[in-house]
Amino acid sequence: MAEVEIKNDGKTVKLPDGAGLVELDGKCSILFACKAGSCGSCKCKVLEGMENLEPPNDIEQAGLATFGTDPSERLLCVAKIKKGKIKVEY
Ligand code: FES
Repeated sequence: MAEVEIKNDGKTVKLPDGAGLVELDGKCSILFACKAGSCGSCKCKVLEGMENLEPPNDIEQAGLATFGTDPSERLLCVAKIKKGKIKVEY
């Protein structure tokens, strides 16, 4: 099982290895509005464990080009976790 610690919520959510982080929707306070990488509402800073995420796909790269300016930022609605633990804040 992979783990996502959401700093703002002070909680950790477990997800299956390889899961899309959109599965956090409803399990934490991160707002997932479009769930398509086009609104920026789910943009988070990855504080720990960036190596445990799959590289951004084309959709996420396009969204990050619009909404992200920091290389530690990811759009959680389209990002996937490989395994292990990450820590994020928004
Ligand atoms: S929910 Fe809109 S970019 Fe992720």
